[in-house]
Amino acid sequence: MKTALILNGPNLNLLGTREPAVYGSATLADVEKLCAQACAEHGLALDFRQSNHEGELVGWIHEAGRAQAAGTLAGLIFNAGAYTHTSVALHDAVKGTGVTLIELHISNVFAREAFRHHSFLSPAARAVMCGFGVQGYALAIAGLAQMTAAG
Ligand code: DQA
Repeated sequence: MKTALILNGPNLNLLGTREPAVYGSATLADVEKLCAQACAEHGLALDFRQSNHEGELVGWIHEAGRAQAAGTLAGLIFNAGAYTHTSVALHDAVKGTGVTLIELHISNVFAREAFRHHSFLSPAARAVMCGFGVQGYALAIAGLAQMTAAG
């Protein structure tokens, strides 16, 4: 069974209390449960993590690249939070490892402030998902499972 790695970037530990009108009332623990259920439905193991530190996220992407090369990882679903809009380092980590990336956002970033319209990750992503609320995580897992089955 291959693993889906789900990484969450800065401030996503605040889900549930953070701007509920934008991000909803589910906590990150609720999101992890939703992901566990979706992974179980699609025959994937789940590795779910959050960090507020860019360098830690870079290290985890390197680890993901090695796991994908070894055949144990289906791919990476990544909500990079605000680092999406600022981080060349995260772009380079994805490009440098060749890991399969699905970029994810809970909110529709294109309906929000102009500074959220640019993503450093999108050019390195296989697919991009935004605006489905936290259900987007389950949809992204379904998409990753389909990509994995298609080879
Ligand atoms: C976000 C959107 C980003 O612009 C923001 O900085 C976040 C969360 C989302 O999930 O909608 O932290 O990635």
